[in-house]
Amino acid sequence: MFDLTRLGQPFLFALDPETAHGLSIRALKSGLPLARCPRPDDRLKVRVAGLDFPNPLGMAAGFDKHGEVPDALLALGFGFAEIGTVTPLAQPGNPKPRIFRLMRDQAVINRFGFNSEGHAAVQARMGARTRRRGVVGVNIGANKERVDRVADYVAGVTAFGATASYLTVNISSPNTPGLRSLQDRDSLAELLARVMQARDAVPGGKRPPVFLKIAPDLAEAALDDIAGELLANKVEGLIVSNTTLSRAGLSPTDHVNEAGGLSGKPLFARSTAMLARMRLRLGPDFAIVGAGGVDSVETALEKIRAGADLVQLYTGMIYAGPSLPGRIVRGLSRFADDEGLRSIRDIRDSTVDIWAGAPLG
Ligand SMILES: Cc1cc2nc3c(=O)[nH]c(=O)nc-3n(C[C@H](O)[C@H](O)[C@H](O)COP(=O)(O)O)c2cc1C
Repeated sequence: MFDLTRLGQPFLFALDPETAHGLSIRALKSGLPLARCPRPDDRLKVRVAGLDFPNPLGMAAGFDKHGEVPDALLALGFGFAEIGTVTPLAQPGNPKPRIFRLMRDQAVINRFGFNSEGHAAVQARMGARTRRRGVVGVNIGANKERVDRVADYVAGVTAFGATASYLTVNISSPNTPGLRSLQDRDSLAELLARVMQARDAVPGGKRPPVFLKIAPDLAEAALDDIAGELLANKVEGLIVSNTTLSRAGLSPTDHVNEAGGLSGKPLFARSTAMLARMRLRLGPDFAIVGAGGVDSVETALEKIRAGADLVQLYTGMIYAGPSLPGRIVRGLSRFADDEGLRSIRDIRDSTVDIWAGAPLG
């Protein structure tokens, strides 16, 4: 089997990161078997927000922004794939270069700024795969120049409500000026009320669950507000977290001062500390997805122990290649063997108190 981890990664690292990403998408589109898919394992199945996931590991938003390869991602072993962020109108995003590797820290800084082919193009792809199995979520956003941003999220719900397994309301990208202020309580209350109303009116009667994706750069009081609004508006799920504006603890390299959101290893502790805080605020039955710095079996397990029902990764795959999801999923099965687990969910929350007390950094 052609294992890009051995052959392709050094080659991809020689290219600028955006070109390398384009090649990865093309390789996935080509249908080449890039990695070995793990065997199905009943102990890894999870039912979250009314959806059945074959395993808890997903591809995070931003890798497949235009919905070109969700099924190829599932074939790598991911239990679900989130496409997007998609904006209503096509827009180019920020000027290049807009993604930077921080090799020593196994991190990335990006300031893509929602480059998107727009709802119509992406919806055509989602519409063409409706008979396929597999959980594919659509992450929706707002156009940069749009004044009524809430209307863009409502449009996203209407556009993808019938074809997406779930919808993610992304108000946490640091690269669209002002977007993160939608996390403030009053703005969030209005946004969530209108989004949930639109979801309940999706043409065809489908009611896909709605997940909110938040930043890791929030104060404790903001976490209280967000939890309150999620519960008040009966939103089904939360994703913790998007990229951070923090540059704490990075090795001094050329790229640390680039503007944008930081992801990868240095985000793990901060995003996990936030995840645990939100688990305690939202209670045991609320669906939470943990993202940020997952790059191994151990980091995936620790997100679950800290309170995550599901886990997502992106940056880890930039460094480890397309065999990473399969390796993590197989590792989860081995862990279940070793511990004699009936379900991977049995370890959830076992370190939630420790992580909830960890500093946000
Ligand atoms: C290059 C890049 C582009 C991203 N684009 C998006 C995006 O369009 N929408 C979104 O919600 N998150 C986006 N993210 C954030 C990821 O989905 C994820 O929340 C974050 O990177 C933390 O996970 P990681 O450390 O495993 O990468 C992007 C991340 C990277 C590295």
